[in-house]
Amino acid sequence: MAKSFHGRGCRFGAGFLTVGRGYTLDVNLHKVRSPVVSSEPSSAAAVAELDPSIIGPDVYAPQDDSWLLCQAVADAGVAVDARVLDMCTGSGAVGLEAARLGARSVTAYDISPAAVECAARQARSENLDVDVRLGSFDDAAELSAFDVVLCNPPYVPAEAVPVEIGLERAWNAGPDGRIVLDRLCESAADLVQKGGVLMLVQSEFADPDKSLQMLSDNGFRVREVVRSTIAFGPVMDAQARWLERTGRLEIGRRTEELVVIRADR
Ligand SMILES: C[S@@+](CC[C@H](N)C(=O)[O-])C[C@H]1O[C@@H](n2cnc3c(N)ncnc32)[C@H](O)[C@@H]1O
Repeated sequence: MAKSFHGRGCRFGAGFLTVGRGYTLDVNLHKVRSPVVSSEPSSAAAVAELDPSIIGPDVYAPQDDSWLLCQAVADAGVAVDARVLDMCTGSGAVGLEAARLGARSVTAYDISPAAVECAARQARSENLDVDVRLGSFDDAAELSAFDVVLCNPPYVPAEAVPVEIGLERAWNAGPDGRIVLDRLCESAADLVQKGGVLMLVQSEFADPDKSLQMLSDNGFRVREVVRSTIAFGPVMDAQARWLERTGRLEIGRRTEELVVIRADR
C-alpha cells in the first residue's frame, strides 16, 4: 500500500513529487494541488524533486504553502547568487529550491531533529550544498545577516500549543496562529542584511496585516506578492469547528487564502 503523508493542506501518496511551472503537484496517485493564483507569469524553470521516501512521519511533507513560496521566490529571482537562510526548513523543500535556483549558499534551520536529518538527506540525495542546522531564530541571528530569508512557519491557529517537539509543531501556532510569525517579524532586521529580502508564506487566519505592519515598523518595505485560495486539508478540517466557534471562520466555509509577503530591507 502506498505510504501517505499528512499535512496541513493536503495528503499525497508515495512516488516522486515533481513540481514544475505552476507547481501542479502530480504524485502518480493523487492530484493534490489547486492552481496557484499569481498576478505574474512564472519566470521559473525550476523543477523541484523531493524523494518522499526520505520524508518520515515526523516531518512536514511539502504542500501548497511550500510550493507557493517556492514559486514566488523563483518568480522574484531573489535567490540567484544570494546568501539564503531558510527558516523552519522541514523537509528542506524551500531551501533546496533556493539552491537549485542558483543561491551562492543556503543555510537552513529547524527545531525538529527529524526535519534536520530529512532536509540534510534530501540535499545529499540531490548533491546540493545546503547547510542544515538544528536551531531557531536566536541561532540564525548569531550568523552574519543574509541576503535572502525565506520562511514557511507554523501558522495554523489552535487552542493549545504542543509542548513536545514533533509534527504538530509544524503547523500549530497557538490561538492567533502567530507564535512563530511574531518571532520571525521581530527578528527580521537581525536576519536580513540591508538591501536584502524576506519572503514568507502564511494563512489569512494568522493575520497577514500584522506581519506587514510589524515588518514595516522594523524598517522593511512590504507587499503581498501572491494570494491563493486552497481547500482545507486534514489539519484545517480538524480546527474548523473551533475556528467557527471562536468566530474566526464563517460557518460552513472550508477554504483559506494563503498569502506570500515580500519585505525588502
Ligand atoms: C510548515 S513546516 C514548513 C516546512 C518547509 N519549510 C516547507 O515549506 O515545506 C514548519 C516547520 O517549522 C519548524 N519549526 C516550528 N517552530 C520553529 C522554530 N521556532 N524555529 C525553527 N523551526 C521551527 C517545524 O519543525 C516544521 O518543520
